[in-house]
This record gives sequence, C-alpha cells and structure tokens, in this order.
Amino acid sequence: MLTAIVTGATGITGSAIVRHLLEDPSITKIYTLSRSQPGEKDARVQHVHLDLQDSAEEMAKSLSGISAEYVYFCAYLAKPDEGEAARVNGALLSNFIRGIELTGAVKQLKRFILTCGFKHYGVHQGLPKQPLLETDPRLEGDMGNGAKWPPNFYYTQQDILKEAAVRGNWEWVCTLPNDVIGYAKQNFMNEATAIGLYCAVSKVLPGSQLIYPGNRLNYFIFNCWTSADLHARFCLWAATAPGAGNNIFNVINGDTQSFQTLWPRMAQRFGCKIPENMFDPATTKAYTAESTDTEMKTKNPISVHAKKLGIVNGLEVSRTPALHLPIDPQKWAQRADVKEAWGKLKTKYGLDQAAWDKATWDFLTFVLGREWGCVGTMDKARKLGWTGYEETWESFERTFEALEREGILPPVEQLKRDF
Ligand SMILES: NC(=O)c1ccc[n+]([C@@H]2O[C@H](COP(=O)([O-])OP(=O)(O)OC[C@H]3O[C@@H](n4cnc5c(N)ncnc54)[C@H](OP(=O)(O)O)[C@@H]3O)[C@@H](O)[C@H]2O)c1
Repeated sequence: MLTAIVTGATGITGSAIVRHLLEDPSITKIYTLSRSQPGEKDARVQHVHLDLQDSAEEMAKSLSGISAEYVYFCAYLAKPDEGEAARVNGALLSNFIRGIELTGAVKQLKRFILTCGFKHYGVHQGLPKQPLLETDPRLEGDMGNGAKWPPNFYYTQQDILKEAAVRGNWEWVCTLPNDVIGYAKQNFMNEATAIGLYCAVSKVLPGSQLIYPGNRLNYFIFNCWTSADLHARFCLWAATAPGAGNNIFNVINGDTQSFQTLWPRMAQRFGCKIPENMFDPATTKAYTAESTDTEMKTKNPISVHAKKLGIVNGLEVSRTPALHLPIDPQKWAQRADVKEAWGKLKTKYGLDQAAWDKATWDFLTFVLGREWGCVGTMDKARKLGWTGYEETWESFERTFEALEREGILPPVEQLKRDF
C-alpha cells in the first residue's frame, strides 16, 4: 500500500505529480490539497480544501484522519518582496508540518519531497557560476560590499524541512527545477502560455513577423528548462530511490537549449516569419516606446566564487546585472494593435480572456531580458540511477497542444490557414 499527500495539487508542478501518481497502480490513496479548485477526479483521490496560511492547530483539524508515506510539497504563493516570500512560503511549509505532527500523521511519513527551484542559485539576481552544482554555497550574509544578500525563501523552507526531518526521523528531498514548462487548469502563470500568446498574436499582426523581444545576448546564451512531467517523474523516483534521501537535486530536462534554436521553431510552428535582421534597431523601431533597460539592485552571484576563479576585479563580478529588451512583453501586451489582434483571436476561436489578463508577461521580461544563462547539471541524480530525459522543444510542443485544447491558444493549423 503506497499513499501520498500532494500540497499545491492544482498548480503546475503539483498537478503533474498527481497525474503521474495516478499512473502508478501501486498507489492506493492520494490526498490532494489546495484552497480553491477541486483536484483530479479519481476514486483514489481525496481533495482537501485548506489554507496553509492557517495556524498549525487549524491545519491539524483539516488534516484529521489523513496520513501518507510520501509528501510532495508544491504549494506556493508568489510575493514580489523576497523577505515577504520567505515569511509567507516558510509559514506554508512549517504550518503544514506542525499540522501533521499534531495529528500524528508524521509517524507514517518516509520521505518528504519539497519543490524549490534555480532561484536557489540566485539566477534571478545576476550571473551565476555555471554549471550550477548542488554543492555551490548558499548566497547568504555579507555580499562583500557591506550589504547583505537578499532573503531566499528556498533556504527558509529547506531549513524548516531539515529540522523537522531530524525531529520526526524521516527523510527529505529538495528539487531544483528551472523555468517549468507545463500547464495547470486556471493557472495562466507560466512561460509557455506567455510565449504561445506572443507568437499567436504576432501571427495576426501585419506581416506575421516573430521578432524576438529579448536582447541579442539572451538569444545566444544557453539555458536549461524543466518539463512539469519530467519533474513529476523525478519526484516519484526520488521518493523511493535508495540513497536519494536527505539530498538536494537539480531537476532539468537533460538537454541544454538556447533561443537561437527554439525561436525559429516557434516561428515555424505558429506560421510566422523571422525578420532578416532581428536585432537591427530598424526592425524594432515601431516598438521604441516598448523597450526596457533596467539595472537591477543585486550583485552577480558568481562574485562568491571570484577569488577561486581568479576574477576578483573581473567584469563578471563588477558589471551591474540588468534587463534589456527591445520589446518588453509587459509593455507590448498593452499596445492597442496588440490588444486588437488578441481580440480577433479570442472572438474567432472562443479563447479565454483570463489567459490574456493573467499571462505572466513579467516572467517573460525577466527570462528574455537577462544577459546570463542558467545551465545546471544532472550529474548528482544520474550517479544515483536517475535516467529521465525530455527534449525541451517537445516539452513546449506538448504544452502548446494542451493550451490549444483548453482554449487558451488558438488551434495552430487553423490559425495558419486563417491569418
Ligand atoms: N512554475 C515555474 O516556472 C517554476 C520554476 C521553478 C521553480 N518553481 C517552484 O515550484 C514550486 C511550486 O510552484 P508552481 O509553479 O507549481 O506553483 P503554482 O502553479 O502557482 O501552484 C501553486 C499551488 O499552491 C496552492 N496554494 C497557494 N497558496 C496556498 C495556500 N495558502 N494554501 C493551500 N494551497 C495553496 C495553489 O492552489 P490554490 O491557489 O487553489 O490554493 C496551487 O495549487 C515553487 O516553489 C516555485 O517557486 C516554479
């Protein structure tokens, strides 16, 4: 008998874990937790509506009679302020753990899998040393200039988890995915939705040109993505793999990709043309008002390795991290011609207005505007027997198809015929 609890079960990473657990006939019961939506409909699934911001005592009441051998913790509340993110997401985790300690459910627990991410390495702050390794030091304390590294909610959560594991004599695993490609119902906050909408609207605009909104460096840097499905498979593997307990793991598709390869494929898929000189100011002159140049207030994470790498006065350390975009998707989405093109798509194919209103344009601004890549390795998990792999383009393709079925993106073959 194998049982599981999945928190954040209706989100991108959590819903993929529930789907993959359901594919395993040895799983007899899955408790899915979230505040609003109902979970997957299946005889083995019991959904519990609860707010993990409630006190541990309230949590214990909601969790009464619920226990499992494996917990997959994917609940997450985005907060723009790093300190607030650490406080809120730390509380979600500690309230839940205290809740299962109070009910006694913790006695049955074997492994607790916590989903974190590459922000663990400060990829949102500036250039990190690459490839990113699980043994890299945390970015904590003095940055070297008198100021402190900003709080990181993953560190807060990992500390809470490790302490509780010692208290309860169970094991923990922490996963670090990067830029997750996937989709969950009523959850429009993901990279694939925003890119798909940008491509579909570009198809409708005069000339059907697919201009890369990000900067030139960004187009050529290398990156790693994580399919929500692959991440789910990894979490199921990590729950029982011998030797995986009490470890932190990068979880990425296994290929190294770059927009220089992905963007022309996006253009082909959505029936768009790539401009001959994409980064020539003449190509983007109609969008001058939509460009962005923002210096960030952070320090490049590579600076903690500066001495060892022999780059103490190096550009990699001293250059202020910045976001540069010839076309900032957040501003682009506000243009009258863009909104009109979206309106045409929405009316013609009956698309969901919420997809447009809630699309994470700010996430695209960051992912396409940064001038550094985020490449990690899967060496640590592979040494323990992990063999999972997914090609990043296939992850995008499969997610676009799901978004078409959900009425978020237009059916692409029809789009190509109609515009
Ligand atoms: N998505 C990405 O691209 C990405 C990339 C790297 C790392 N990550 C990390 O992966 C983790 C999971 O993120 P995700 O993208 O899967 O999140 P998500 O899609 O936004 O889902 C969040 C889940 O948490 C639930 N939730 C939020 N607040 C809650 C509360 N107070 N009580 C109970 N449930 C609550 C939500 O359901 P309700 O709102 O209905 O409660 C939802 O099921 C996070 O640590 C995130 O930083 C994500």
